[in-house]
Amino acid sequence: MKDFEATWRYYRQRIEGVLEDKLNATTDAPESLIDPMKYVCLDGGKRFRALLVYASGELAGAKMEQLDAPASAVELIHAYSLIHDDLPCMDDDELRRGKPTCHVAYDEATAVLTGDALQALAFSVISEESEQKISASNRIRMISELANASGANGMVGGQILDMQATANCVDFDQLRLTHKLKTGALIKASAVLGGLAGNVRDADFMNGLEDYAKIIGLAFQITDDILDVTRNSATLGKTAGSDNRMGKVTYVSLLGLDESIEQAEQLSRTAIEILRGLGDNTELLEQLAHFVVTRSY
Ligand code: IPE
Ligand code: IPE
Ligand code: MG
Ligand code: MG
Ligand code: MG
Repeated sequence: MKDFEATWRYYRQRIEGVLEDKLNATTDAPESLIDPMKYVCLDGGKRFRALLVYASGELAGAKMEQLDAPASAVELIHAYSLIHDDLPCMDDDELRRGKPTCHVAYDEATAVLTGDALQALAFSVISEESEQKISASNRIRMISELANASGANGMVGGQILDMQATANCVDFDQLRLTHKLKTGALIKASAVLGGLAGNVRDADFMNGLEDYAKIIGLAFQITDDILDVTRNSATLGKTAGSDNRMGKVTYVSLLGLDESIEQAEQLSRTAIEILRGLGDNTELLEQLAHFVVTRSY
């Protein structure tokens, strides 16, 4: 079994360099926007979604250079979602990735606009990738997938359900849908973008990859809910106990800690089962399914 820590370190460094290049290339943007864009995007985060793009893409036969654009695009969308998620009108959080949140370090208007700019940049990064690396038709497929996963059908849709859940009573199915959308959709898209970069024509393979990613996406948010109550702020790099303070409905608040852990672990095992049908080269995806539920932050 390859050393997951070393692999993770390698990809973290790689995506850091790619994100730095993409942000440095926005030369016409005002300093007052570039500064917070770099502040939130660089030097922080687990880069789980980027790693999922690379791992899925390599399984699908893509070269690493073909995966840099989609991997950075999903991280840009993710960073934007975190900025907006932390705003006072949403989760009202002051700590993110071990630093003051964007609206605290800058101001609210800057935070809103920084998120907007990162979202647009994500789509530029894919659309402007060279034909040699990703064909035009594949770039359109990627943009469509990412737009769906980010917008009303995906992350943003989930975020509004999450906001409403604080006021209204929600049942378990509603909560699972919220988690699938607000977090699962972008994680699923990360795997699909990797598969698309590999030009996979095998529908069964793509469906399997998608099912695997949907399942670990849900497990990822359940674990996020668990960590919010089991870890401290220093470990998380964000304020522990935030869900409780905001009266959020979470897996832990609905099912309790033990049952939440059990469900997350079961999902991780199911995801690993699905990988059995995707060939012999699935070790990294297996390690990722494991990481999702064993991580400490
Ligand atoms: C946090 O995501 C927000 C969720 C969708 C649960 P991550 O836990 O991936 O945050 P970073 O990127 O490592 O900071
Ligand atoms: C956030 O979920 C999901 C997003 C789309 C950003 P949370 O609100 O639980 O994420 P954290 O705990 O603030 O990172
Ligand atoms: Mg939130
Ligand atoms: Mg939050
Ligand atoms: Mg959370």
